[in-house]
Amino acid sequence: MDAKHRIDIATPLLGWYDRHRRDLPWRAKAGEAAAPYRVWLSEVMLQQTTVATVRPRFVEWTRRWPTFADLAAADEGEVMAAWAGLGYYARARNLLAAARTIAAEHGGKLPDTEAALRALPGFGDYTAAAVAAIAFGRRAVVVDANVERVVSRLFAIDTPLPAARKPIRTAADAITPEARAGDFAQAMMDLGSAICTPRRPRCLLCPLNHGCAAQVAGNPEAYPVKKPKAARPHRHGTLFWLQRDDSVLLVRRPDKGLLGGMRALPTGPWCDDPPLLVDAPADADWRLLNEAVSHGFTHFTIDLAVAVAHTEAASNKGEWWPVDRLAEAGLPTVFAKAADVVRRRA
Ligand code: ADE
Repeated sequence: MDAKHRIDIATPLLGWYDRHRRDLPWRAKAGEAAAPYRVWLSEVMLQQTTVATVRPRFVEWTRRWPTFADLAAADEGEVMAAWAGLGYYARARNLLAAARTIAAEHGGKLPDTEAALRALPGFGDYTAAAVAAIAFGRRAVVVDANVERVVSRLFAIDTPLPAARKPIRTAADAITPEARAGDFAQAMMDLGSAICTPRRPRCLLCPLNHGCAAQVAGNPEAYPVKKPKAARPHRHGTLFWLQRDDSVLLVRRPDKGLLGGMRALPTGPWCDDPPLLVDAPADADWRLLNEAVSHGFTHFTIDLAVAVAHTEAASNKGEWWPVDRLAEAGLPTVFAKAADVVRRRA
């Protein structure tokens, strides 16, 4: 791709961005410098969650921990609880680890190059590029799912994902400008969100429509091409709601593995067939509710039967948590769903 093509995409796209950019709480106003802490935090939050969900959570989080130093000094349990509903907890753990490294080794400031960022916990290709470009104006090639879609359409890349990642990256590199690389990346994201949507893209409004190979061919929705998905496996298990007076027994999940380190309701094994009352946290008169909890994780879906019992006995398996303050326990969504089922059915 030649230099001319590079200008052809960036110029109309940046012109469009200057008129239509979204006003988002982590974004600098036009012409102002971005705050690296806010850029980094937003990029980590946005990796698995929509802008609509992240917006209020970001505002809440930055009120509570407004700087790297505040986050570095935070209690790990509180950080994990504040992350509930924002995706993999490994990201929250890495956020905290990175904040501590930045406070201890970088004088409280993020390094400002892609290569140096990459050495921090939790910085992969995407985060390092996005932060280098958006927070520090470095030329970096930022490719997220929106950018994949826009670029695969612009160049009608026929290779199915995930093999398409390489040619998409090469093409994204070719159209990324030297100046305003951060605005360019965010413009691609805004375009992907508002115009170049997965279904029914609004090509008539698109500032890049004349240069878009898929639009010219009349089939933008065909891109990015995807390999047919294998079905997610389906599992079964049982959740245990053990109540003592007005408190319920919560446990902490093992550090490694799904929802690692999080507070949780005790569960039995997760298997291909319903295991029912295996591994209950106490000998008690368990009663199965007639509503299960269904939940989709990235790699499998699960139905969890809900068993409830009361006890008078102490337990050394976890902590007794007041039921009317369960919202403060930071339970992952699957367990919060279970608490709703108990509220309705028990
Ligand atoms: N998605 C990921 N990062 C984003 C950003 N900076 N602006 C809008 N959407 C995004």
